[in-house]
Amino acid sequence: MHISIIGSGYVGLVTAACFAEFGLQVTCMDQDPQRIAAMESGEIPFYEPGLQDLVRKGRQGGRLTFTTDLAQAVNQALVVFITVGTPSTDDGSVDVSSIEAVATGIGRAMTSYTVIVTKSTVPVGTGQRVKFLIESAQREPVRFDVVSNPEFLREGSAIEDFIRPNRVVIGAECDESVAILKDLYRPLYLIETPIVATTIETAELIKYASNTFLATKISFINEMSVLCEKVGADIRMVAKAMGLDGRIGSKFLHTGPGYGGSCFPKDVAAIISTGKEHRCEMGIAQAAVDANARQKTRMVEKIRTALGTINNKRIGVLGLSFKPNTSDIRESPSIAIIRLLLTEGAYVQAYDPEAMQETAQQLPELKLCSDSYEVSDDADAIVLATEWNQFRNLDLERIKKQLRTPIFIDLRNVYQPTRMANMGFQYWSIGRVSPVPM
Ligand code: UDX
Repeated sequence: MHISIIGSGYVGLVTAACFAEFGLQVTCMDQDPQRIAAMESGEIPFYEPGLQDLVRKGRQGGRLTFTTDLAQAVNQALVVFITVGTPSTDDGSVDVSSIEAVATGIGRAMTSYTVIVTKSTVPVGTGQRVKFLIESAQREPVRFDVVSNPEFLREGSAIEDFIRPNRVVIGAECDESVAILKDLYRPLYLIETPIVATTIETAELIKYASNTFLATKISFINEMSVLCEKVGADIRMVAKAMGLDGRIGSKFLHTGPGYGGSCFPKDVAAIISTGKEHRCEMGIAQAAVDANARQKTRMVEKIRTALGTINNKRIGVLGLSFKPNTSDIRESPSIAIIRLLLTEGAYVQAYDPEAMQETAQQLPELKLCSDSYEVSDDADAIVLATEWNQFRNLDLERIKKQLRTPIFIDLRNVYQPTRMANMGFQYWSIGRVSPVPM
């Protein structure tokens, strides 16, 4: 079967490469000729483990091709996926103008029955809008169906998430389009992946409900960690024991400097905006947003308490991306914290295994170091902001020697408080009381 993917960004390219791996004939379209030319020469515009190899394999096997021609992409395919960006607007609502433009283009280009699938995260009602725009743009009536098939890919493990998902959601209006979508995901039958077939509106909401719930779970454990510090409890044990209750589950209970990335902040804001539109107060979602904002300022307060003052201090930061295994710094708590530190007069030096280039463009005043150890060089404190594996086994003796004062602020609870104190560090972490250094 031949399918096309419109929009070769993160979701589009992962979807294209994985469907090609499933054995389908895939055309990946983007209106940006430079992006397409780069991908044709094997360059991937962002870091995602395994993606480059998968794209190469698809291209070499002749199953993955690239184009800038929308009409060609539409005419070749029985199924057309829309994976263009849906950025947030200032009021938190979602800008679906790219989706609308693509829908109109598809309507104009379509010459035979096609299934149009929205994979981008779109507000409830977008599927019906896509249907209307395609109908209005058609030069003569051609039969088509609209489907919602939201993605649940995590950056850094997107390929694994695509190939071994927890579930596939298909929102459709007729059995024929559901059957065609199920066919695309046929390799997943072998691993008994549940397929949830429902209406378009329900599918659209499932994505927002899932991400808002996960963001709320993180905000909950972050708030609990503050209480742990006040009463002398250990958040890791609290989370562990909570997670052993099957109704709660152990995932997404890691306390940290707050959630970030391209999805959670945007999706929670969007569900609040959709709620407003329908006069339905989304109080829990709003509380998650507020708690997440407080968490970042709390991290700066922690650094201030550890150092006495931030002004004129040299602070080394390990990790810039919003989480490990990605170069993405969108809504990264590390970047937000660095900005606050710079505003308070700190001199910040940082290192990240993948996100240095992106950060240099956004924060030119930041000193970028060549490795983890240069970060600690002559610094008043070191802050571990993103839990890359490289930072889990640091030569702590070397770091201690290089620091002006042995202050280690661990915003991801990577290290053991007692061990750090025994090594002579003033060790600060989240939701745990640190012993006094030996
Ligand atoms: C998320 C969803 O997981 C995915 O299903 C959706 O399609 C897109 O949004 P992603 O943004 O790639 O994926 O990252 P994820 O691994 O979910 O982490 C999001 C943020 O939450 C990160 O900032 C991470 O550090 C933080 N987080 C996650 C915590 O602070 N604690 C946790 O326990 C888990």
